[in-house]
Amino acid sequence: MTPSQTTALPDADAGTAHPAQVGRQMIAILDFGSQYSELIARRVRETQVYSEVLSWRTSIEQLRRLNPRGIILSGGPNSVYEEYAPQCDPEIWQLGVPVLGVCYGMQLMVQQLGGVVERSERAEYGKASLSIDDPTELLTNVEDGSIMWMSHSDSVIRMPEGFEILAHTHNTPAAAIASHDRKLYGVQFHPEVVHSRGGMAMLRNFVYHICGCEPDWTTEAFIEEAIREVRARVGEKRVLLALSGGVDSSTLAFLLHKAIGDNLTCMFIDQGFMRKNEPQRLVKLFNEQFHIPVEYVDASERFISRLDGVSDPELKRKAVGAEFIQVFEQESLRLGPFDYLAQGTLYPDIIESSGENIDPKTGERVAVKIKSHHNVGGLPKNLRFKLVEPLRRLFKDEVRKVGRSLGLPEEIVQRQPFPGPGLAIRVLGEVTPEKLHLVREADFILRQEVNRAGVYNDYWQSFVVLLPVKTVGVMGDQRTYAYTVALRFVTSEDGMTADWARVPYDLLEKISNRIVNEVLGINRVVLDITSKPPGTIEWE
Ligand code: XMP
Repeated sequence: MTPSQTTALPDADAGTAHPAQVGRQMIAILDFGSQYSELIARRVRETQVYSEVLSWRTSIEQLRRLNPRGIILSGGPNSVYEEYAPQCDPEIWQLGVPVLGVCYGMQLMVQQLGGVVERSERAEYGKASLSIDDPTELLTNVEDGSIMWMSHSDSVIRMPEGFEILAHTHNTPAAAIASHDRKLYGVQFHPEVVHSRGGMAMLRNFVYHICGCEPDWTTEAFIEEAIREVRARVGEKRVLLALSGGVDSSTLAFLLHKAIGDNLTCMFIDQGFMRKNEPQRLVKLFNEQFHIPVEYVDASERFISRLDGVSDPELKRKAVGAEFIQVFEQESLRLGPFDYLAQGTLYPDIIESSGENIDPKTGERVAVKIKSHHNVGGLPKNLRFKLVEPLRRLFKDEVRKVGRSLGLPEEIVQRQPFPGPGLAIRVLGEVTPEKLHLVREADFILRQEVNRAGVYNDYWQSFVVLLPVKTVGVMGDQRTYAYTVALRFVTSEDGMTADWARVPYDLLEKISNRIVNEVLGINRVVLDITSKPPGTIEWE
């Protein structure tokens, strides 16, 4: 079914009420394929107003039903004058709802309302200084000369009737425009990106002053509503949750425990690929400190023998995933019966339009976002459980806030991402108990030193990879012939792109010295200085 045929509100069959049904104010983002569409939604939510990303194909009826207080049209890779350029329903201009067009969104507004957009002689990419001609409404509190992030090669040549210019830049005469009476606004820059100073002020002006929203999307309100919904959906039935120790499943456990108490069963399957001491620490924290009972399932023997002779990364992932499902099914029968399965699905997993763009020549949909990996904890759809997914409308940073507010400690809230197959994909090639031991010990040293230096939160991920390479070394008077590890430190916003981190030499030195001195079997440490792309964060 295409989005335009959809009649129900997006969450109707997920057993949760859509925010629009419970009277929450919302800003709808129509996504035209920009890599920043999600970011716009996150920024709007930072103003404590709920917002949602919808496909540009969303019908006008669907929009009416959602009853947004305002609509933002995102940027996109196409040009509005192309034959197959994505278009929104022109009735949008008659809805009487304020609209803000960003980049492509602004050009579309101009074109559909009778103005002209053409390829510009002077494309503008990167930072530009905004000269403000009308410092009211949209641009209230945005400083003249603010730096804004531009990324366009098309420009507005003639504005539609009733529009005026609010701001310009050196290369772009119509950098911000408005039809005040109709509450239609357009900006050629990207207010949502961090480099755009004053971008947040502008979005706040739009959300609060132009759309008239009040800040009602708060962590506390979300928690209250989610608990109410879970109780209404689940009643007295039992719910099973596979805990991984990451922030999503832990937050979910806290939320569900608060909602349904003992009817929640948390299960932690130890595949034997976790970091040193982590399974024990996690189970102890939950059982003794949080008083949320966790069933610990030690399946490490099964997993390691399943990987016997497997060295290809994708086969490893598949083997770990398949074993996980088997163990999960067996254990759920043992502990069950359960009616519901809780999953830590997040909003980026369900955005209908993400990863879709339009080929300007053929009009076909093309996938642009390469969804890297599904967590091996992911379970097949045909399990006999009904799903509970109370975090499905949250972004990761919102999950962290919810977790924190429910009392989750910082060590879990701020935990770096850890792949589902764990250390099994950080031992390159075939996984053996000996190699797992080496990578785990080396990784432990890295973590200790990173924590001692107080820089754990400076990195998106920091870890060790064991290479299938032996090199010659010398220790004392002895020749050694042992394994090499690579240190991987990256910074990233979302794991989709990443840069190698400029780690202080002193820290690298400590880690390297300790690894070769303390981990018998490793005699060389190298540093990975590859960004993503072209590399990936993990080596497998
Ligand atoms: P890559 O290596 O693709 O990783 O740049 C991007 C992010 O995904 C994590 N990752 C995984 N997570 N199962 C997971 O749950 C996997 O198989 C997997 N492989 C990579 C990686 O740690 C990084 O955060």
